[in-house]
This record gives sequence, C-alpha cells and structure tokens, in this order.
Amino acid sequence: MNAHAFWLVVPAAGIGQRMQSDLPKQYLTLNDRYLVDVTLDRLLTCGGWAGCVVPLHRGDQWWRTASSSENPFIETCEGGDERADSVMAALAHLRGRARDDDWVLVHDVARPCVHNDDITRLRNQLADDPCGGLLAAPVSDTVKEVAPGTDQVLATRDRSRLWRAFTPQMFRFGALCEALQQGLEHHPGAITDEASAMERAGWQPRVVPGRADNIKITVPEDLVLAEFILARQVGS
Ligand code: C5P
Repeated sequence: MNAHAFWLVVPAAGIGQRMQSDLPKQYLTLNDRYLVDVTLDRLLTCGGWAGCVVPLHRGDQWWRTASSSENPFIETCEGGDERADSVMAALAHLRGRARDDDWVLVHDVARPCVHNDDITRLRNQLADDPCGGLLAAPVSDTVKEVAPGTDQVLATRDRSRLWRAFTPQMFRFGALCEALQQGLEHHPGAITDEASAMERAGWQPRVVPGRADNIKITVPEDLVLAEFILARQVGS
C-alpha cells in the first residue's frame, strides 16, 4: 500500500467567460445535474481520498443549491483571481493536515467525463515518482503558430513532441505549494496548470497517457458532447 495520502483539489472558482452564460459553467447542467456535482461524484466514486477541497468564487450564490454542498466530506474555501490562486488557496486550507510527501490531485471542475481508470492509472504510474505528473494525450492535428492578433501563420510546430495537458495533475504537496508560490510571485498569469509551475521550479513532470474523452467544457457545444460521452461511458 502507498504510505502517502491522496488529497483532492477541484478548482471551481472560475466564472466561465467563454460560455456566453450568466451562470458560471460549473452550474450549467448535464443531464439535469450541475456540472460541479457530476464532476465531484465521478472523482469521489474513485475512493481512497484523504480529503477534498473545492475553491469557490467569493460571490458564488449557487454552491449551496448543489447536492455536493450536502456532502460533509467536501470542504470549500475562497478561490482567487486566477486558477493558480484558487489552487493555492486550497493548498493553504490543507496545511497542517497534508504532509509534504503526500500527493495532491488537482482536477478542473470543467472536466466531468474523467474516467476512474485514468485516475487509477495516474496514481499507480506515478506512485514512486519524486515529482509527479499529469494525464495528457499526444497532439494528432498539425499545429500552426499564428502571429498574435492576426490570421498569419508564422510556422508549423513539430507535433511529435507536443501533448495536450489534461487533469487530474498529481504532485507532492510540499513541492507543489512551493512551486505555485514562486510561480505566482515571479510569473503572474503564466501558470495555467500545476505542471507549468513545477516545470518553472526545475522539476520534470511526467505525462501519463489519458483518455481523449476527458474533455474540458469551454464553449456551450461542449455540454452536448459531454452528455454523449457520459452516456457512452456507462458500464465501460
Ligand atoms: O476557465 P478555465 O476552464 O480555464 O478554468 C479551469 C478551471 O479553473 C475551472 O475548473 C475553473 O473553475 C477554475 N478556476 C478557478 N479560479 C479561477 C479561475 C478558474 O478555480 N480564478
């Protein structure tokens, strides 16, 4: 048995600007359930967590109407301006309970189709790693670099070296706290996931191939796709 506890952090303090909705995207519905409830149910079904923290926006008026708010295992804290601030707030919430070598898995609330098998594989493959890593998938499209603010292609990138970063991302509590702290201080705005903070702190996170259906809800059309994926995953 792995001696280190697994803590779960699910940032849900975003306001979902790209969804063209007054409601933050975690409160849009998938099969008549809030996105936040679908995602948390999936993660908690996996079991083996020492605790779960969900950072929420300071003006959040919807959480108390989510079924997850009635689950005493789920704790909340106030999120921050950027995703990294929200994750940092959750880590601060866990300070004193999580040990430096414990694992923290950070999963975006906007990825409701995450599969049990992926979470188990991530935990198992990285269990003995000093740093940790993330679920990811190799890029299959040809990737173009376009001049900012224009439609002009500057170059074609070598896709054989490129992977799409998913969540969960799994790192050691102590190292992640330090890396995020440094990242927020020295590279504000550039820390778009935990791995990028760890990379800047000199670590080399590992990629663990994940299912391509672990999509992120970004635009309204993604909700329909997620409902389709969830229906197909039943029993798989
Ligand atoms: O907006 P985007 O999809 O990139 O957000 C990724 C995740 O980070 C979402 O789960 C969102 O709720 C969360 N987030 C946060 N605090 C912020 C911004 C985003 O918890 N300030």
